[in-house]
Amino acid sequence: MTSQPPVSPAAGPRRLSLSLRIWRQDSPEAAGAFHTYRLERVSADLSLLEALDQLNEQLIAAGERPVHFEHDCREGICGSCGFLVNGQAHGPQTATTVCQLYLRQFRDGATLTLEPWRARAFPLIQDLAVERAVLDRLLIAGGYCSVSTGQAPEANAILVGQEQARSAFDTATCIGCGACVASCRNASASLFVAAKLAHLGQLPQGQPERTRRAQAMQGQMAAEGFGGCSSNLECEAVCPQEISADWISWMRRESRR
Ligand code: FES
Repeated sequence: MTSQPPVSPAAGPRRLSLSLRIWRQDSPEAAGAFHTYRLERVSADLSLLEALDQLNEQLIAAGERPVHFEHDCREGICGSCGFLVNGQAHGPQTATTVCQLYLRQFRDGATLTLEPWRARAFPLIQDLAVERAVLDRLLIAGGYCSVSTGQAPEANAILVGQEQARSAFDTATCIGCGACVASCRNASASLFVAAKLAHLGQLPQGQPERTRRAQAMQGQMAAEGFGGCSSNLECEAVCPQEISADWISWMRRESRR
């Protein structure tokens, strides 16, 4: 009779231990500082936000204030999340929001430094959360289409070419997370504004207000104190939607139409 090899237990999820060095600041007026916390033997399949959830459970159990960070959809759609991971907006993985970043990206024993967006346009609320209402104000200035269209038109009444539609959609994917501003040495909102202008400016419905929209949004950008674009392309590198910085050149031409 031949002996059977022992059945090995199913391999569990990879586990790792991390140090999280997190910027803690009680309020905009308070002094902030980095605090280091340990996470021991956590699943590598946790997202970074789930790891922060786990840390917060530990902090609450110990009677400490949990870490404040923004989130909503946790699938890269809403743009609510966002902070610096080891100095990079949304962390080291390209085309990824911080809610889509998983611990398996990091080696066992790593130290992750988490800090909020550092831009004057984004005042700190607490810890990793910043106020991004300024992006809403840029949209209110003109990032919309107010043409009265009446009832829904017949689908073939206004033809939009496939390439045109695809290009407009590419720019419409901007989720307004603010990574472009936070990673720019000038804290410029150029990629955000260019994406919004290009989204509407490429479609027939956006034509009547096209010039006014470009002037209003760029005027608001200047009034809000954003810096200018010096073509360093950090914005493009960190954009989770991979929106091209070429749209900034397009925006400059747009304002001269
Ligand atoms: S929580 Fe919605 S994009 Fe990250």
